[in-house]
Amino acid sequence: MNFLITAGPTRERIDPVRYLSNFSSGKMGYAIAEAAKKMGNNVVLITGPVTIEKPKDITVISVESANEMYLETVKFYSNADIIIMTAAVADYTPVNVSNSKVKKQDDNLNLELKRTKDILFEIGKIKSKNQILVGFAAETNNVSEYAKSKLINKNCDWVVANQVGLEGTGFGAEDNKVTLFAKNGEKFDLPVKNKKELAFDILNLILHL
Ligand code: PMT
Repeated sequence: MNFLITAGPTRERIDPVRYLSNFSSGKMGYAIAEAAKKMGNNVVLITGPVTIEKPKDITVISVESANEMYLETVKFYSNADIIIMTAAVADYTPVNVSNSKVKKQDDNLNLELKRTKDILFEIGKIKSKNQILVGFAAETNNVSEYAKSKLINKNCDWVVANQVGLEGTGFGAEDNKVTLFAKNGEKFDLPVKNKKELAFDILNLILHL
């Protein structure tokens, strides 16, 4: 099968030397991409800026901003049987990007931000019935409620939810603790595991249900 996977953070430029971003390392998304490849599938990985070595035998598309990730995802989604959005995409980007370094001033500085495209939502609107769309959800509280509402609002077939703030898991960590929510109402609580092993568990559930 053909997989399309997004991974890592996005960077939203403020000026030539500064950006807004988050603590995603790309480890979860790259682990899923490599597991999908090892299971015999074709994989396209759209990645934000990370320090992980690019996997071999996988088409890797490097992007920087949320808008670039959106444009590449739209370009590649129609050929995919399974689309998994692991990336931590910025929800906001600066309204104005300065061409020169913003100089400090005595007063506070206000940065005006505008919404980015919600890639998961946009793909949920245009995907075909045969395509499986998997969203991730990173929340600090009410994880199940938010995950279930993402299933409906973003037309996902699966939502993989991880609670942010659990020691040693989530953003940047080697391990993760996830609960999978399926469109048919089923819920699978997986134990804490290394992201590389967890990737196989996530794919096995998605492929076999
Ligand atoms: O990269 P690691 O360090 O290994 O960490 C893994 C992870 C914690 C980043 C990963 O497991 C994870 O939870 N990814 C989603 C993080 C996130 O930003 O969640 P969210 O609740 O903000 O977004 C929900 C879903 O919408 C995600 O599938 C996201 O890719 C997607 N999204 C969000 C915003 C946006 N503008 N476009 C999107 O497509």
